[in-house]
Amino acid sequence: MTQIIFERAHPFYSPLKILFGPNAIKALGGEARTLGVKKALIVTDLGVLKADLLGPVKESLESAGIAYVIHDQVEPEPPIRCVDAATAQFKSEGCDLVIGIGGGSCLDVAKGVSVMATNTGGVLDYCGIDLVRKQGAKKILIPTTSGTGSEVTRVFVVTDETDHTKKVVNSLYALADIAIVDPLLTLTMPPKITADTGMDALVHAIETYVSIGATPFSDILAERPIQWIAQYLPIAWAKGSNLEARYFMSLAATTAGLAFASGGLGAVHALAYPIGTGYHLSHGRANSVMLPHVMRYNLPGNPEKYAAIASLMGKEIEGLSDPEAALLAVEAVEELLTTLQIPFHLHEYGIPKEGLPRLVEGAMKFSRLFIPNPRDLKEEDVFSIYEQAY
Ligand SMILES: [Fe+2]
Repeated sequence: MTQIIFERAHPFYSPLKILFGPNAIKALGGEARTLGVKKALIVTDLGVLKADLLGPVKESLESAGIAYVIHDQVEPEPPIRCVDAATAQFKSEGCDLVIGIGGGSCLDVAKGVSVMATNTGGVLDYCGIDLVRKQGAKKILIPTTSGTGSEVTRVFVVTDETDHTKKVVNSLYALADIAIVDPLLTLTMPPKITADTGMDALVHAIETYVSIGATPFSDILAERPIQWIAQYLPIAWAKGSNLEARYFMSLAATTAGLAFASGGLGAVHALAYPIGTGYHLSHGRANSVMLPHVMRYNLPGNPEKYAAIASLMGKEIEGLSDPEAALLAVEAVEELLTTLQIPFHLHEYGIPKEGLPRLVEGAMKFSRLFIPNPRDLKEEDVFSIYEQAY
């Protein structure tokens, strides 16, 4: 057990309400009414539209007498202008509720709209921790992937196109009023997105679990997702219509979201962000690629926890020392990536070796994530992890 838990109090964050389970979406209209709102802006993207997931959303809002307009222009790894455009529509249409439905990008833009609907200035003014001044507009967040956990966290991430970096707003006011997590909405998710987003959830659980900020509270929320993802992600990837697998993947992503919202992330995210923005890999894919390499580097910092991860992922660790068992956690992750057909070396994505210094520079901008990481990193360590990953 790390020392830090005995030194100070630790917060736990969550939305006011999480409605979880099959057909939860049908309650949307009723939930909106309890918030006392009249008109919703539905923030989503063309993928959600094409997958025909808005049907039950509209139906439920209509039967509850809640008016709505749709903003379907969210882009992947959303630039700040996506938040600006949706906020402008929210204001011009006189909305008082924002509903984010989709993957992490849609939910993050919806959070941005909520905050910018009531606060002056621009999104960049609020990047950082607790800089948002006023409570945002009411928001309901509905994930259609099982990955980011954004529906339950107090952060949203946008891309600053001026310097091609990710910027993060971390605020209590980014927390949803209500999160509606309905596994039925994930049934049609394609295998590649299932794999990438599911791995993102695994990274959240693992990074929180080994973090120096981990507490017994966050451990509870991280352990089960690690187990569920190892067991159910291959099934959800192979057979998208398997409701049991989708159910536990939804539960895993939401629970891992609650875990990292309270326990904190680490070096995997820091090293993955510049790959995502520099080479247009999805957040989940960039995390997947870096996970085994960062784990291998981190092992000496918390062998006990990595040994537990090996066991949670189905490895037999009896009779092994912690360092021996910890290695099996890396093996389990690499086996999972292989099953999911996710290559985990940078050269396999056409990233040139000359690009590594640029990635190091990008990762160092997230060095605050090195603080909770179980092993210290200097610039040369970051470079050598990228080299290993190459
Ligand atoms: Fe993530």
